[in-house]
Amino acid sequence: MCGIFGIVKEHEGPLGETLVGAARRLAYRGYDSVGCATIDESGKIDLRKDVGKIDEVNERLNFSEMRGQRGIVQLRWATFGSPSYDNAQPHLDSDGDLVGVHNGNIVNHVSLRDGFIAEGMTVRSANDGESIVHAVEHYVDRGDTMLDAIRAAAQDLQGDYALIIASNDVAGGDGALHAVKSGSGLVVGIADGATCVSSDLPSILPITNRIIRLQDGEMVSLWHDRVELRRLSDGEIIERETEVFTEGMDAAEKGGYAHFMEKEIHEQPKAAAELIHWLSASPFVPQFLDSLSSAKHLYFVGCGTSYHACMIGAAYFNRISGIPAIPVLAPQFTETLAPILSPDDTVVFVSQSGETKDVLNALKAVRPTGAKVLGVLNVIGSALMHLSDHYLPLACGYEISVPATKTFLNQVVLFLYLADKLRVHGQKIDWNAIPDIIEQTLVSTKEGAREAASILNPYDEMYYLGYGLTLGVAMEGALKLKEITYAHCEGMLSSEFKHGPLSAVQDGYPILFVTAPNDAAMMVNHINEVACRGGHPIAIACEDGLLRKHVSEYISLPDVDQEIATLLAVLPLQLISYYMSIERGIDPDFPRNLSKTLTVD
Ligand code: AGP
Repeated sequence: MCGIFGIVKEHEGPLGETLVGAARRLAYRGYDSVGCATIDESGKIDLRKDVGKIDEVNERLNFSEMRGQRGIVQLRWATFGSPSYDNAQPHLDSDGDLVGVHNGNIVNHVSLRDGFIAEGMTVRSANDGESIVHAVEHYVDRGDTMLDAIRAAAQDLQGDYALIIASNDVAGGDGALHAVKSGSGLVVGIADGATCVSSDLPSILPITNRIIRLQDGEMVSLWHDRVELRRLSDGEIIERETEVFTEGMDAAEKGGYAHFMEKEIHEQPKAAAELIHWLSASPFVPQFLDSLSSAKHLYFVGCGTSYHACMIGAAYFNRISGIPAIPVLAPQFTETLAPILSPDDTVVFVSQSGETKDVLNALKAVRPTGAKVLGVLNVIGSALMHLSDHYLPLACGYEISVPATKTFLNQVVLFLYLADKLRVHGQKIDWNAIPDIIEQTLVSTKEGAREAASILNPYDEMYYLGYGLTLGVAMEGALKLKEITYAHCEGMLSSEFKHGPLSAVQDGYPILFVTAPNDAAMMVNHINEVACRGGHPIAIACEDGLLRKHVSEYISLPDVDQEIATLLAVLPLQLISYYMSIERGIDPDFPRNLSKTLTVD
C-alpha cells in the first residue's frame, strides 16, 4: 500500500532529509520503490527515484542533498506495473511541467492511458500513478488553472486513491502543492513556516501536531503559510478547524487502535474494496482464469492461514464453477502429489509473505513436471512472485501483526472473485456491495464476539466446528485462537465430532458452530448432539429461527447467501481471538514462538 508525503516551505532550502525522514515513517505500509521530487523557487524540478529500500536508494541517488521550496516523496507498493525505474513515482507530465504521486488504485488507467497516447502525450510507464499527472495535463493544456484542471481530472479518475501534484509554473502564481482525497487516507499538517500533507500521520508528527483530516471528495491546496480546502464537485471552499493531535507516535502508527491486529481487522472493508477494484481492472485476471479453467488437475497449495483460504477457495471452485480443485498443505503436496503432476496440471500457491519455505519447496518440486505455477501473494517482490508463471497480488498493504487477518480475507475474496468469473451455478455476485457488508458485519458482531470471548476464556481447550464451505473458516478461527491466546482449539467438520471428540463434552463445555444458510438444518443435528450432553453451543450464522432455538449464544451475520456468509463468518472469529488474547494479557501482535515469515523447513 503506497505512501505519499509533500511539504511546502517559504523559501528554497534543504528538503532531502525531510523527505527521506517522511519516507522512513511511511515504510511500515510496505513498498518496493522510492522516489523524491523537489521544486525550487524558479520552478526547476529535480526528480530522483528507483526500485529498492529507502536507505540504499538514498545512498545511490543522494536524496539527502535535494533542495527546493516544495517537495514530494512516494513509496510505491507495486500493483499496476512491476517494480522498475519507470513505474516508480513521482511521475512527470509530457513536458516535465507537472510532477505528481498517488497512492491507491486508478482502476480505469488502461483506457485513460490509451486516450493520453492518442492525444499525443508522452506516457513513460505502465503505472496507474502516471495517469493522474496526464489527467491533469489534459485540462491544463486546454487552458484550465491548476485548481480547475485537478477538479476536472478527479472526475475522470476511477478507483480509491489520494494524490499530490504540483506545477513548475511559478510565474502563473501557483507555487502550491495540491492534493486530492478520493478513497485513500490524507492528512494535512500546519507548522510554523511550512505546511505538509501525507497519506498518514506518522510522517507528519515529527513536523507538527496541528492537523486537518480530509474527507473523500475533497482537495487541498498548500502554501507555506496557509491551506485551502475545497469540495471537488463544485470547488466551494470548506472551512475546517485545525485539530491538535496529542497522542504519541505509537498511537499514530496504530491509527488509534490498541494493536496492529485490531487496526488490520478494521482495515478489511477497505482492503477488500481495493482488491475488488484492482481485480476488476487487471489485465492479469484473464490469464489466470485461462490457466484455472483449462487445468486437467487443479491444486491450491499453502500453509497455515493461507491453506485455510485454499480450502475455502477449492470449495468455492467446486460448487460455483464446477471445476474440481483440491486444497493441499504445501509439504504434503511436495511429498505426495508433486511427483505425479503433468504439464496439463495447474498449481496455485498461496502465501501472504511469498517467502514461506514449505511453499517454495513445493513450488520447486513442481517445476520439473512442467505443470503451470500460479502465485497469490501479498508481498510484491517476494520469491513466490518471481518464481510464478503468473501471480495476483492481494493488495492489502503491509500486514504487521503476526496473525494474518486482512490477507486471509482478501485471499478468500480473491478465490470467490475468480470462482464467480467462472460461475456455472447460481447468481453472479454484486461486488460493489461487498466492502460495505464486511464493514456492517464488523460493527454488528463486535459485541457478540466480546461476549463469546468471555465465555471461552476460562477454557484452555475447545472446538470450532464448520460444515461444507465453513469448514475452512472454523479451522482458520481455531488457528487464530491458538496463535494469540495459547489455548488449544481444534477446528473440524461438525459431522465428524460424534466420531470421537464428543466424549470431551460435559456441563457448560463451549463449542462454537460456524454455519452458512443452506447448512443450518444439518448443523442443528450436530448442535443437538452437543446440547443434549450439557454442552454450551455458540453459533455464528445468518439469522435462522431453528438454529437460534438450539444454541445458547448467537452471533448473527447479515442476511446474505451461502458464499458471502462464509466470507463474513471469519470476522467475528478474528474478533473473538483478539478480545480473548487481550483478556489473557497477551500481545496479539507478537505472540510467543511465532514469526510473520517462516523461511525454515
Ligand atoms: C497466520 O496467522 C499465521 N501467521 C501462519 O499460519 C501463516 O499463515 C503461515 O505461516 C503461512 O504464511 P504465508 O501466508 O506467508 O505463506
